[in-house]
Amino acid sequence: MEANDRITASNLNEEEEGLELSLRPKRLKEYIGQKSITENLKVFIEAAQMRKEPLDHVLFYGPPGLGKTTLAGIIANELDVDLRITSGPAIERAGDLAAILTNLNTNDVLFIDEIHRLNRSVEEVLYSAMEDYALDIIIGKGPSARSIRLDLSKFTLIGATTRAGSLSAPLRDRFGVVSKFEMYSIEELKEIIKRSSEILDILIDKDSMTEIAKRSRGTPRVANRLLRRVRDFSQVRGSGIIDMMITKETLQSLGIDEEGLEGLDRTILKTIIDRFKGGPVGIDTIAAAIGEERITIEDVYEPYLIQSGFLHRTQKGRVVSDLAYKHLGLGTSGEEQLIL
Ligand SMILES: Nc1ncnc2c1ncn2[C@@H]1O[C@H](COP(=O)(O)OP(=O)(O)OP(=O)(O)O)[C@@H](O)[C@H]1O
Ligand SMILES: [Mg+2]
Repeated sequence: MEANDRITASNLNEEEEGLELSLRPKRLKEYIGQKSITENLKVFIEAAQMRKEPLDHVLFYGPPGLGKTTLAGIIANELDVDLRITSGPAIERAGDLAAILTNLNTNDVLFIDEIHRLNRSVEEVLYSAMEDYALDIIIGKGPSARSIRLDLSKFTLIGATTRAGSLSAPLRDRFGVVSKFEMYSIEELKEIIKRSSEILDILIDKDSMTEIAKRSRGTPRVANRLLRRVRDFSQVRGSGIIDMMITKETLQSLGIDEEGLEGLDRTILKTIIDRFKGGPVGIDTIAAAIGEERITIEDVYEPYLIQSGFLHRTQKGRVVSDLAYKHLGLGTSGEEQLIL
């Protein structure tokens, strides 16, 4: 299966990109959940506006699809400034970053997605830009080389990353606000599904909203994606109104179980059980055994498996929990339980 077909996939196809845009909340009051982050930001935004200064640099981290990009856009809207979006891998050379920075206007927001993937030379340019709103540029080569300092407009950098641990300490230290995104509660996901179905003109009953919310892995992007797939099924097979029958049928067709686990989640758990006696086993070994990249497992699959108690991360490696054995219908020793 291609990564894009997966419900958990963090990359979007073109159709989805357009839809995501329309579903993205534009203002803080429309943004559901992550209250501890948004309450603080509200204060910082207001304070910055009162002082007519840029907002301090902000770092967002957490698993994909939890609303980091969305919140960056909201911050720019609330500050009433322009937003410039780029990503770590897109900025190849220091000169690319210099070009972006010199084009910013006062108090603008620069959003760098996947900021942990900036290369070293670019990162170093960012230090003085963040701290002093200045660029130190070396002109010429050899003994005649000299450094000149170029002043920049004051701006706010918002960095986003799925892995805060991969950020170098000097970069991390230059962010005044560091916010960790948490997975969403079922109630919050229900609210997001309700909002999205209103925007997309989808008729759906309450039970179905709850069912989708429960199986969305705590992730708004997954919730929106499941909602659209259920809509497809109801359009073709059903009455056009989404009810429990069509919802369950869709989720089953997609291979998503009651806990929101999909094929690869179960493969990860089963592989650890069958081949490594339930663990502990190192992440690289698991990755090799199932033929997936370590990063994909760590960033996309593991957070939810850990959050929901199916997998534990220990010093010696990953361990499958009793809950996972139960969920998969296996005895804790690994053999199938007879259901009489
Ligand atoms: N708090 C929220 N309220 C309502 N909808 C939300 C919220 N957070 C995210 N969404 C929806 O989920 C989608 C995914 O969010 P977003 O693209 O901001 O995630 P992300 O954290 O940047 O993910 P990635 O790390 O993969 O870039 C958005 O299009 C939006 O529709
Ligand atoms: Mg994003």
